[in-house]
Amino acid sequence: MSKDSLTITDNRTGKTYEVPVQDGTIKAMDLRQIKVAAEDFGLMTYDPGFMNTASCKSRITFIDGDKGILNYRGYPIEQLAEQGNYLETAYLLLKGELPTKSQYEAWAEKVTTHTFVHENVKELMVGFRYDAHPMGMIASMTAALSTFYPTSKHVRDAAERERHINRLIAKIPTLAAFAYRHSMGLPYVYPDNELSYAANFLQMMFKTSELKYKVHPALERALDVLFVLHADHEQNCSTSAMRQIGSSEADPYCAAAGAIGALYGPLHGGANEAVLRMLQEIGSRDKVAGFVKEVKESGGDVRLMGFGHRVYKNYDPRAKIIKKMADQVFEVTGRNPLLDIALELERIALEDEYFVKRRLYPNVDFYSGLIYQAMKFPTELFAVLFAIPRMSGWLAQWQEMIEDKEQRISRPRQVYLGESRREYVPLHRRV
Ligand code: CMC
Repeated sequence: MSKDSLTITDNRTGKTYEVPVQDGTIKAMDLRQIKVAAEDFGLMTYDPGFMNTASCKSRITFIDGDKGILNYRGYPIEQLAEQGNYLETAYLLLKGELPTKSQYEAWAEKVTTHTFVHENVKELMVGFRYDAHPMGMIASMTAALSTFYPTSKHVRDAAERERHINRLIAKIPTLAAFAYRHSMGLPYVYPDNELSYAANFLQMMFKTSELKYKVHPALERALDVLFVLHADHEQNCSTSAMRQIGSSEADPYCAAAGAIGALYGPLHGGANEAVLRMLQEIGSRDKVAGFVKEVKESGGDVRLMGFGHRVYKNYDPRAKIIKKMADQVFEVTGRNPLLDIALELERIALEDEYFVKRRLYPNVDFYSGLIYQAMKFPTELFAVLFAIPRMSGWLAQWQEMIEDKEQRISRPRQVYLGESRREYVPLHRRV
């Protein structure tokens, strides 16, 4: 008998089955043969929230949640954040290798020449109310882009895929900045292709009457590092949404719009906005202990936002980098007064049995909002600042899914617990 297998005895029938084990997994389909009777459907696994189900094989991002390790294509996140930049990281995620100098230049050129959006996009944007949430706006605008690029539906054509990957990475900062300008009632600022990816985004956000907007290099660098940290995170909720929508061979614009929707929620990318609101509600350091007590007594209803993670059961390595970087940003912007509340929350939570027992540590969102706020980004835009860099991760994962011969349309099973067959009763006879 091969050692790389699992022997399963079905106590209902006394039958024994041998199921191969590969890469630490068994194939769920191998369980289908396990039946009580010939007409049975066969055994399935039940895993709400995919707590223990691998939905794909991937070569992009590795996380060891217990050790607090995050690598993109094998490169530790700390090295990429310290020594690399976002566009280089996006290239790495998409192509599997860091670019050579000439490859980098060609890639940066491609991205910067696709930053403009069709003028009709502006017309669509104008239709939103003044207080529309920017995540709703960019999700809609990203989906709308598919109508400007109808050939994007040829998802099996590698050249087409590349074209639209470039466009999405290049245009998402433009859509984000337009959404912000719309909410402020300010004229849209067109991309400046002489600037870096991060600097161009900052000038589209904040430029007013000056001829050339001057981006502070420390803030440009900080935003770029935040983009590196948010670029990918393997099979999280929004990436799974991207893969799931893409599995029906929908075009990448519509798939990315769905991923933006998934990211919007406060348990995922919306958490950084929720952290800021939480810190503002707490209001001062002396109220922190009372808030922690409220969290513990709420039975899970009140959460310490920016804490906990499905995968990390240790300090999120991204949070460590962001915490260090916060000081560099505050040197330029002035210290965010909410930082003291955050530090006190972290101190108390890390010593408290409730959090220690559940292995709840600060995640990427705990400190990022403080930096965004200090840089004058409005709170509603925080999740958008997550969506911009995550676009490269979504697209790398989408491409991997399309090229993976083992993938099928994503279509889970269910355990049906509803009524069995019953007969229709006409309306006039129902009481
Ligand atoms: N505050 C208080 N209690 C918590 C928290 C929290 N932030 N997170 C988890 N718990 C408790 C939860 O109540 C449960 O307790 P019990 O065992 O007594 O029922 C236990 O810890 C396990 O929680 P869970 O909800 O089963 O864990 P999960 O893996 O399903 O959820 C999570 C992960 C990130 C959704 C969750 O930790 C959470 O809601 N955190 C706050 C939101 C947040 O910061 N999200 C950003 C995640 S990082 C950015 C990203 O990649 O999206």
